[in-house]
Amino acid sequence: MSAWKGLEMIIADIINRFGLRRESCIEFGVEFGYSAVVFSNFFERVTGIDTFEGDIHTANKQEHFQQTQERLRPYGNIHLVKSDYRDWIVRDNQRYNLAHVDIVHNYKETFECGLWAARHSDCTIFHDTESFPEVRKAVKDIARATGQQLYNYPHHYGLGILADTKSIERHK
Ligand SMILES: C[S@@+](CC[C@H](N)C(=O)[O-])C[C@H]1O[C@@H](n2cnc3c(N)ncnc32)[C@H](O)[C@@H]1O
Repeated sequence: MSAWKGLEMIIADIINRFGLRRESCIEFGVEFGYSAVVFSNFFERVTGIDTFEGDIHTANKQEHFQQTQERLRPYGNIHLVKSDYRDWIVRDNQRYNLAHVDIVHNYKETFECGLWAARHSDCTIFHDTESFPEVRKAVKDIARATGQQLYNYPHHYGLGILADTKSIERHK
């Protein structure tokens, strides 16, 4: 079972609290698809980026792209891409209503991927702010770098929430 379990209960509240549109969501760190499926219930399109090879913090380190794609086939609005976030962010210039960052829980990667996500979405959420101090620090530094409003939900290993309130106002 995914460590993400429980957070599905607060996604509607986040969408309503910030008045997010429900067109597009991008996720970095899909693994077996728990959170991607949650987002597919709220957004028209969900793009999921992952190497599907695991990392130093995940129990599974076996390649599982085809298998995961097959299992998520019933959720037709999820588009999975097998890619390192570094290769994705240099070629994607779209904006998203919500971004979710749940990749390897190191400072450098979380900051780099999260900064791109915060600059390309109205709201960015980060898993594991309570269980990984490096994630928490990266989220704080991204809030400082972007001037976005920072919130922390302390349950289910912690969810950092950054809202680009100026952009949300403009797109209403
Ligand atoms: C904690 S898991 C994601 C859990 C998932 N969000 C869920 O709902 O259960 C982290 C995932 O990030 C992926 N990952 C780690 N580093 C990455 C990178 N540089 N680029 C893309 N994906 C990466 C791993 O392959 C792994 O599947």
